[in-house]
Amino acid sequence: MRVPRTLDDLTWPVRTERLLIRRVSPTDAAAVWRYRKLPAVYDWITTAPVDEAAFGTYFVDPHRQAVTLAVELEGLVIGDLYLHIEDAWAQTEVRDEARGVQAEIGWAFDPEQGGRGLATEAVEGMLGICFTGLGLRRVVASCFADNTPSWRLMERIGMRRETHAVSESLHRSGLWLDGYGYALLAEEWRA
Ligand SMILES: CC(C)(COP(=O)(O)OP(=O)(O)OC[C@H]1O[C@@H](n2cnc3c(N)ncnc32)[C@H](O)[C@@H]1OP(=O)(O)O)[C@@H](O)C(=O)NCCC(=O)NCCS
Repeated sequence: MRVPRTLDDLTWPVRTERLLIRRVSPTDAAAVWRYRKLPAVYDWITTAPVDEAAFGTYFVDPHRQAVTLAVELEGLVIGDLYLHIEDAWAQTEVRDEARGVQAEIGWAFDPEQGGRGLATEAVEGMLGICFTGLGLRRVVASCFADNTPSWRLMERIGMRRETHAVSESLHRSGLWLDGYGYALLAEEWRA
């Protein structure tokens, strides 16, 4: 039976041209809160704790730590990445072969560092971690259709828009918004 690799099996940190990607630690909470508290970020992210104490509690949760990577530029944490290895849907008889074969990915970056391709570079680094490091076959990501910077990033790194769901997701503003689903296969990434 195939044994899926996990983030614990990889060598850290991972370096890209300008950045260092590493496992996050509870001591990163203040650095991550510094940009996650900003409207340009919290407007779009899934969970937006109201203050630093609440954010600290959320961030140090072992489940959160296990799926979060820190992105450093010259020693400063400028963003964080979400990498959640998951099972693909499969029929019952072949379910074991579909375990841990794909990942959902996500990101949040300090807007002060935006517009220089740093998030793009970090997410490209994460694709390398997914496909080469972990040997995954597919990576997926989703966003609100109104989150233009996020879906532009996905298109820049070669992800394919596969779904446009109409009025499917409830934003904390109270509005039901459209959502986009993107994906990339290992063979597409290699090409
Ligand atoms: C999504 C997010 C990371 C995108 O940030 P960003 O600054 O647009 O992304 P990058 O750092 O990769 O920079 C890309 C921009 O730099 C430009 N750029 C400059 N040098 C570049 C380079 N070497 N490589 C790539 N792009 C470069 C690009 O053209 C692009 O500008 P444009 O959008 O005007 O075309 C950021 O908006 C964010 O963190 N948002 C809040 C959190 C969020 O939405 N998370 C996702 C929830 S689904």
